[in-house]
Order: sequence, then C-alpha cells, then structure tokens
Amino acid sequence: MKKKIRIGTLISGGGTNLQAVIDACQSGRTDGEMVFIGSDNPDARGLKRGDEHGIPTFVVDYRSIIQGIREAPEKIMPPDDFNMNDLLSKQTLFPWSSDVEKIKAFMVTRAIAEVKLLEAMNPYPFDLLVLAGFMRTLTPYFIDRVNTDPHQPRIINIHPSILPAFPGTDGYGDTFRYGCKIGGCTVHFIDYGEDSGPIIAQKAFQIEDNDTPDSVTKKGLNLEWELYPECIQWFAEGRIKVIRMPYSSEKGRKKERRVVKILPSR
Ligand code: GAR
Repeated sequence: MKKKIRIGTLISGGGTNLQAVIDACQSGRTDGEMVFIGSDNPDARGLKRGDEHGIPTFVVDYRSIIQGIREAPEKIMPPDDFNMNDLLSKQTLFPWSSDVEKIKAFMVTRAIAEVKLLEAMNPYPFDLLVLAGFMRTLTPYFIDRVNTDPHQPRIINIHPSILPAFPGTDGYGDTFRYGCKIGGCTVHFIDYGEDSGPIIAQKAFQIEDNDTPDSVTKKGLNLEWELYPECIQWFAEGRIKVIRMPYSSEKGRKKERRVVKILPSR
C-alpha cells in the first residue's frame, strides 16, 4: 500500500475545493489523508463537510480577535517569540512606501491570531498545509513556523486567476471586469507576498461574450476541483521540486526567482 501524506487544510467559506480534496483522498486519486480542517470563520460551510467525513475541525475566529484588539489596543500582547524587525524585513505584502505603523499593526494583529492557529494545529502533525479558500493573509511569523525546511515549502494555495495577474480576493471578478478572453486558476506555494509564491500549475478556460461573473466563476471552480487534487498528488509523490533560477533584471542587476519543476513520475 502506498504511503499517504497527512494533509491539513484551512478554509474560510463553502469548501468546494476542500470537498474535492476529501473526495480525491477517499477515491485513492490522491495518496493523502486529511488530518484537520481549520477555519478563521465560525460560519464556514466547509466545517460541516469535515463533520460529515469525521475529520477534526477547529475555528480561530479572526474577526473577533481583530475586533478585540481594536477595542483594547493597550492590551496587545505579541507572542514571546515575535520579532517585528524580522517580519518587516521579510514581508513583501506591503510596499516600503506604505505607512510603517500600519504595517506593524497588521503584523502584530495577525501574529496574535496565527499563534492561536498554530496551537490549534499542533495536535495534528501534517506533511502539507492546503489553503482551500482561506481568505486571511499569512505573515512570515506563521509561514516560518510551518516551513521549517528551507528547501521544501509545504503550504500551498489555490487562487482564482492566472497569476501573476489579479492577485487578491476576487480573481474571477477581476478577470471578468478587465475583459479578459481567458481566465484560469493557479496552484502555488505561499511566500511572504500576496499570491506571489512559486507557481506549481495552472489551468485556463475561454471567456465568451455571453459569459457572466457567475458563469466565469463556475468554469473556474470546475478546473480548480481537478487541479488541486492533481497538485497534491504530485506533492505526495515527491515530484514537486523548487529550484532557484538566476536572471538579470532590466537594469542588469543579478536576481533570483524560485520556480517549480514537476519531476516525471517514477
Ligand atoms: C476558490 O475560488 C478559491 O480559488 C478562492 O476562493 C474560492 C473558495 O471556494 N481562493 C482565493 O481567492 C484565495 N485568495 P471554495 O470555498 O468553494 O473552495
């Protein structure tokens, strides 16, 4: 029998991608076992899917944590191992021209929520963390505590656009409103930026003149449900290799980007 990887998932909403991964694990299309489903939103419909399949679930209610901090900022207690300068130097979510105090407030608030997330995940060791419609930004504080091997990132996300176009919270809507003739979805590793990590795979669909925002989303989701389990299976088979690719910038500066190669199946 093939060894199964342990998959942890984080969701915020309906969880149709979560369901696709559960189904793929159960049918054997993906050599994985889902070990937890976590949500930032107590009302996420996906939590019920976990209950239906006997998968442990938990909630870290980001909204109430953020609200609590807003109401009593003097009570902010950053985690003991929190290092603001480390986070500021790593993060690429906000440009350097942004208001540093705002960035700091964001980082500390999220790290407080992320400690709770890490604590909730702690009882369930996992090999891969799958973000399936998780609509919260993860900071370097959380990412570094999950990605403990610098050579093998292990947090993946599915995004509703052909990245790097249209990062953010409404990929299909942005694609449609721009008048694109092709839409798509992307599976990528998480890095310190917004939807900017190394791309694992993408799928595309045609957008016709009679398409609507709803029909575009429907086309996209149908592809997501195929693509995500496929990528997770590549991870399970050890076929996803992240390599460093040097290149020269327009100004002739030597730079480096991390890119993914999918190794052939053995
Ligand atoms: C999916 O379209 C996913 O790509 C998107 O949220 C939806 C979740 O649907 N994720 C993001 O936008 C992440 N930035 P689901 O809850 O039915 O899987």
